[in-house]
Amino acid sequence: MAVLVTGGTGYIGSHTIIQLVEAGKKVIVVDNLSNSSKIVLERIREITGVKVKFYEKDLIHADDIDLIFRENDINSVIHFAALKAVGESVEKPLDYYSNNLTGTLNLLKAMKKHQVKRFVFSSSATVYGDPKSCPITEDFPLSTTNPYGATKLMVEDMLRDICKADPNFNVAILRYFNPVGAHSSGRIGEEPSGIPNNLMPYITKVAVGQLDYLNVFGNDYDTHDGTGVRDYIHVVDLAMGHLKALEKLETNCGLVTYNLGTGTGYSVLDLVNSFSQASKKEIPYQIVERRPGDIGMCYADSSKAKTELNWEAKYGIKEMCEDSWRWQERNPNGYRGKRDGNVIK
Ligand code: NAD
Ligand code: WQD
Repeated sequence: MAVLVTGGTGYIGSHTIIQLVEAGKKVIVVDNLSNSSKIVLERIREITGVKVKFYEKDLIHADDIDLIFRENDINSVIHFAALKAVGESVEKPLDYYSNNLTGTLNLLKAMKKHQVKRFVFSSSATVYGDPKSCPITEDFPLSTTNPYGATKLMVEDMLRDICKADPNFNVAILRYFNPVGAHSSGRIGEEPSGIPNNLMPYITKVAVGQLDYLNVFGNDYDTHDGTGVRDYIHVVDLAMGHLKALEKLETNCGLVTYNLGTGTGYSVLDLVNSFSQASKKEIPYQIVERRPGDIGMCYADSSKAKTELNWEAKYGIKEMCEDSWRWQERNPNGYRGKRDGNVIK
């Protein structure tokens, strides 16, 4: 019996595969490599000693997905594959609705056809919109402000309906807060294409000398230093959450929803300072206007995951910064590094 991991060569997927393989699970990976590199698979093999079976396929093509289910004995699916850039989703809404919704529908239909009843879904804190207060619990009102967030909410709604219709279908909706960090080996990590949108990869690019300085988007929020506060979570902790969610689904629990965060909020300047200490690099920055669509504060109450999954984040801001830096310093060009003698895509 295998776990199918969609989007498995991506940032969170690759870290989760390592945890799955180390826990003795058989893993099948599907990814269209639209935002990732095949080199990830070599690195996973290097770290775990296991070569995972890989399909370079697009979830948009229903027949290709069906084939994966026909060729393998799959009993659960972890679904990471999606387009994920908020700003881009505003410019290209059709791409986002098409990829994230059609891809998920094809996957769910194939699961139904092949009687696969366990599904873990990558949702996001973005489904809380502008929360009325923090920490955020899972029962907070849901809303979105951009097409990316809308796709997450729509898939959540689909899953709630599917579980109502089929009491044997089990779903874990995992709402991630702000994933950062990398595997401690320094061999896999986040590789944003172009100029990063997210804070941590932007900081690491400044530290490695590829960007001159960080723009801090606003210092007039109602937070301890005026800059935006977020719940940064180490990607390895996040990966572990998926393992725990799979265990939960084995109990035939129906639909469950969990926040995966640390419960601690750090400001932009907190992260800059922690990163400077970890990397021993100064991070020059300037304060600029707020970024449209940003909220002041967002952090999780993850006590439900602690109680029901026996999961909680182990790593703190120091490890998040050290591991992000190790990955960036050793792979200044991501997976395209000259040392690999490989050019991707
Ligand atoms: P990522 O872009 O690194 O990984 C996603 C992977 O999916 C990529 O390898 C991409 O090539 C693949 N993919 C996309 N569309 C596909 C398709 N149609 N068919 C096959 N493969 C496809 O992103 P990530 O940061 O690892 O995010 C994983 C999931 O977690 C996504 O669903 C994302 O929306 C969600 N999420 C991410 C964050 C974050 O900040 N990174 C936060 C909350 C939720
Ligand atoms: C964090 C803080 C910025 C960049 C996004 C998505 C969300 C989820 C995670 C997928 C904010 C500030 C940032 C910069 C800055 N993704 N910042 N300068 O916006 O909390 O969440 O990624 O689901 O849906 O919206 O993350 O890393 O972009 O920003 O000052 O160059 O850093 O204003 O306060 P965000 P982020």
